[in-house]
Amino acid sequence: MTQNPLHKKNIILGVTGSIAAYKAADLASKLTQNGAIVNVILTDAAAKFISPLSFQSVTGQPAYISADLWGAEAHVLHIGLARKADALLIAPATANTLAKLARGGADDLLSLTALALGSGPDAPLLMIAPAMDAGMYSHAATQENVEILTRRGAVFIGPEEGHLASGLVAKGRMSEPIQILEHLRYQLSRSGPLKGCHITVTAGPTQEDIDPVRFLSNRSTGKQGYALAQAALDAGADVTLISGPTHLTPPAGTRLIHVRTAIEMQHATLSASKTADALIMTAAVADFRPAQPAEQKIKKAKGVLSLPLMQNPDILAAVNQQRATTLMPKILIGFAAETQSLTSNAEDKMRRKGLNLIVANDVSARDAGFAVDTNRVTLLYADGHQEELPLMSKLEIAAAVIERAIPLLNPQENV
Ligand code: PMT
Repeated sequence: MTQNPLHKKNIILGVTGSIAAYKAADLASKLTQNGAIVNVILTDAAAKFISPLSFQSVTGQPAYISADLWGAEAHVLHIGLARKADALLIAPATANTLAKLARGGADDLLSLTALALGSGPDAPLLMIAPAMDAGMYSHAATQENVEILTRRGAVFIGPEEGHLASGLVAKGRMSEPIQILEHLRYQLSRSGPLKGCHITVTAGPTQEDIDPVRFLSNRSTGKQGYALAQAALDAGADVTLISGPTHLTPPAGTRLIHVRTAIEMQHATLSASKTADALIMTAAVADFRPAQPAEQKIKKAKGVLSLPLMQNPDILAAVNQQRATTLMPKILIGFAAETQSLTSNAEDKMRRKGLNLIVANDVSARDAGFAVDTNRVTLLYADGHQEELPLMSKLEIAAAVIERAIPLLNPQENV
């Protein structure tokens, strides 16, 4: 199954002397929970804010300070750390550290290790999350250092606008650990099996206006669709996520297009499909919309209010029609939300909509379908074979679907 790109990756977390150093412990913990092997290097200034023991406790790995350079293993420590590293993440990075890295300084364990990583396209990823006062960050010297490091291939995340230690509210705050982690996850996924593929995923519900304040919708939360976007990114794809209204944060690296109605989703999907290698329609598109939405708020009335509905366009069928001329997307994957006759209804939808694969989703179960974090599905392929998957998290279901899509996108993988 396609995996979280952080799994079993050797990450060196460099922590430098900023008050944001306390957040680095949370970051180290989150990286470890995502399966990474995390070795922490603290500068002397960082060790005044937080101790190496805090990092050792959350990572289960040794955490180093510059004094370790003078121990028994001194001559190989930085080389050994650099040699096995998949990435060096410096969070928080102070102005002093940026200056040191930009000019190739090497007077402590962190800067020595950074230099030992090498530079150029084959060097491990260098990702930097700066944290400093706003004036220090906007200073021409710091900006030049950021530019130099970016030119050499370093990836920056943040800093963000927010409350700074000086009392200012300005740009200089370290990005939140979860954002840093997700950005690193994205950066490490770029050489996956779907590198160079463009996958469009639709997610969430649509809303169909009744009047200016009311709409028809459904119980989709977008969880399954956002999980598919994440799994496709993890496999190295470029992902466009066309999302109906949800409360979710899109995975780092997605091109997000917000839509509200089925008609808006159809426009966005037809447009993205022209360049997509695969379209995965996870969205719960409203099949009907009010035939004539009222221009003013409908007033309370006695008795029964009738609401004439008209059919929405079938987006998958429209994309299938368009691909007769564009030849894109190469593969179409649909979902079928069913409460009865699961596989026969799904099979019928697969045929009618011209799909390569349909994910039949029994939405009558309490632990599957709408809103919950787990799902239970059966995969039906155009060649007639079926595959029943057990109850899994929505991300695991998504990873399984993406894994099945890889050979359909790269036929040589079948050989
Ligand atoms: O968002 P969650 O809370 O995580 O819930 C996930 C889910 C239950 C919404 C998801 O797993 C799911 O089953 N999505 C498909 C929902 C659906 O609309 O199924 P359907 O059987 O009505 O439609 C079949 C397929 O046609 C779907 O791929 C749908 O996106 C597509 N469709 C539907 C209507 C329409 N007008 N145009 C379409 O393209």
